[in-house]
Amino acid sequence: MQPAISELLAQMTLEEKAGLCSGADFWNTKAVGRLGVPAMMVSDGPHGLRTQKDGGSVNDSITAVCFPAGCAAAASFDPALLRREGEAIGAEARAVGVGVVLGPAVNIKRSPLCGRNFEYYSEDPCLAGELAAAYIEGVQSQGVGTSIKHFAANSQEYRRMSSSSNMSERTLREIYLPAFETAVRRAAPWTVMCSYNRINGTYASENKMLLTDILRGEWGFEGFVMSDWGAVADRVRGLEAGLELEMPGCGGVNDQKIVAAVRAGTLDEKVLDKAVARILNIVLRHADLAGAAVGAELDLPGDHALAASLAADCAVLLQNRGSLPLKQDQKVVYIGGFAAAPRYQGGGSSHVNSYKVESALDAARARGRAVEYVEGFPADRDQREETEFLRAVEAAEHADAAVIFAGLPESFESEGFDRRHMHLPDAQNNLIARVAAVQKNTVVVLHTGSPVECPWAEEVSAILCMYLGGEGVGRATDALLYGEADPCGRLPETWPLRLEDTPCYLDYPGDGRTAYYREGVFVGYRWYDARKMPVRWPFGHGLSYTGFVYKSASLSAGELTDGGSVDVTVTVRNSGARFGREVVQLYIAPPENAVPRPPKELRHFAKVALQPGEETTVTFTVTDRDLCYFDEELGDWFAEPGEYKVLLGHSSRNIPTVLPLHYTTARRRPLTVDENTPIGDLLRDDRTAPIVRSVMASFSSQMGENGGDAVSAEAGMQMMDGMPLRAMVAFGGAQAAAAMPGLLAALRGAVPPKTERT
Ligand code: BGC
Repeated sequence: MQPAISELLAQMTLEEKAGLCSGADFWNTKAVGRLGVPAMMVSDGPHGLRTQKDGGSVNDSITAVCFPAGCAAAASFDPALLRREGEAIGAEARAVGVGVVLGPAVNIKRSPLCGRNFEYYSEDPCLAGELAAAYIEGVQSQGVGTSIKHFAANSQEYRRMSSSSNMSERTLREIYLPAFETAVRRAAPWTVMCSYNRINGTYASENKMLLTDILRGEWGFEGFVMSDWGAVADRVRGLEAGLELEMPGCGGVNDQKIVAAVRAGTLDEKVLDKAVARILNIVLRHADLAGAAVGAELDLPGDHALAASLAADCAVLLQNRGSLPLKQDQKVVYIGGFAAAPRYQGGGSSHVNSYKVESALDAARARGRAVEYVEGFPADRDQREETEFLRAVEAAEHADAAVIFAGLPESFESEGFDRRHMHLPDAQNNLIARVAAVQKNTVVVLHTGSPVECPWAEEVSAILCMYLGGEGVGRATDALLYGEADPCGRLPETWPLRLEDTPCYLDYPGDGRTAYYREGVFVGYRWYDARKMPVRWPFGHGLSYTGFVYKSASLSAGELTDGGSVDVTVTVRNSGARFGREVVQLYIAPPENAVPRPPKELRHFAKVALQPGEETTVTFTVTDRDLCYFDEELGDWFAEPGEYKVLLGHSSRNIPTVLPLHYTTARRRPLTVDENTPIGDLLRDDRTAPIVRSVMASFSSQMGENGGDAVSAEAGMQMMDGMPLRAMVAFGGAQAAAAMPGLLAALRGAVPPKTERT
């Protein structure tokens, strides 16, 4: 504790200390005027500021630049882009006096239906973690803090303030925590925001395992935890579990409970002191940095230009049968309300009062393109207007190309509720199919925060997904359509063919009290790959106007051991005629083993920019942690020894390069030895296998007589695999019964007793 903080603490009254643990209002911590402790303002986040206007109401926010939302930013697969976005938002925050930006939001996209997916990054924890760390570094480089949220397992909006996300520890550790882990370990966010929901029955705001044991104990978090707005159930329990700041405060009601608990001796005042010290540490850090930031100015025009250029790097070209890029001299018709009024951000707490919005139509007109516009359908609702519909079809028929700007109206997708289906409005689907029937160069531009079913995909020529690209999305769309920018985004989530294929289809969103995460670690591509299911577009997919080939891939060593690492090198060449960017994706495929694992998992990725004909070499360092799953019995990350594969791909389903990697380890999974231990487990463990084999050999004649010709040797071994040790007595008789105590003693001697997890 800094001396200044311990001195302050010593001077604070119990009431002042309790008071500091909740907000003064919606957006500020409390000041302690007599001791010179200032208030600190926080602000949403994540993709632009939603900072309350001076003297305005809670939802009346200042004008700020709306950057690409999480869904779009993640599609960049580019930590450098997230860092730039973070720096710009951090600079805006500094200029308006914000101490902590409430973001990034890194919850895993368990189902495409989650209403808030537009704000989140990915179905994959590696991608989400890398991007979150970069965003945090960007914001915090400006002397402004972040609040990574919503910790944890908040993957639905339905009953988000009470529903319990129930899952195995392995699922939590492998899927729902690593994005937080990477960001906390690597980028040290000033604060963490705990989520509304419960996890296996315990509110996140009271979850000691999460807020203290894992966050602080394992990952070394040193900032403070704040509640999501209104997420506190039992304040005193929360404080004890590691929740320092309650937001937005509750008129002091919970402060009084803290005071009463200390007075009654049911809450140790030291717990309160620790919480206050952690809050003071950040508040004073902000005060120091804010002093240095006096005079910092908002650069809204500059940030708008940046937002537009980032949006172009986030777009995913899903399909292109030759219509794109468009040519300047083509007669093109733009159809759909989103051409004039793009949907570029989501609804709810992340809604930015945007500086200025550029539509694709504005951009096309500003550049003198030969574009005609027919609304066709409105952007804000599902409505078919017969005249508009027919006008659109007719215009498409007589044009050289038709670009339909489709997407989800805001009422279809927002914070606060989940989607019920994955459809676009019927009016849009119908018009797309009709236009495609009369115009072979039909291009669909999508503005959605998450995947939609695309029943017309085979009928149209090209599909460009802009996600929710921020206020510059129109300018970016224009540059991409006309080939002035190269589409270089990749899907941060699988686009399934239909909702019924999704991993948690039967369990999502649960009954309101409990959501059972029965699909376990098989989320997103981990599920579709394990089930070998066709999908509309796989995770990591995205086309370019140029092409890339991988050459001379190699490993620095073919063997990896405990605590070691190997370098994976691959040369990437731009084989086309235009500048472009490729995302090299590295997946690890485990050997077949006793524990069910996804067929492959993303562990590294790198985005490279290449001129035509240019090549570059990418190097990744694969460590033993990259091979691991979380072993619940061991209570730790663990990889079985064996033959792994390093996959280098353009997407999760387009993998041109496979390198074998042999892994050896001295570590073993815990093995409990008693007479119920399956013989197969003992035979698979090199410590016990020789002992069991020699005993089996001595009984083999008798076992053979019993089995006779009815069971082949191979089938016999398979039957044996699951038999408990005591079956030896059942089938081996008196001789085996006599040998059993000695056998158990020998086996126990070979395997150290299992230590219980604490
Ligand atoms: C949201 C948070 C947000 C907070 C403040 C909550 O409802 O879940 O993400 O930061 O409100 O607006």
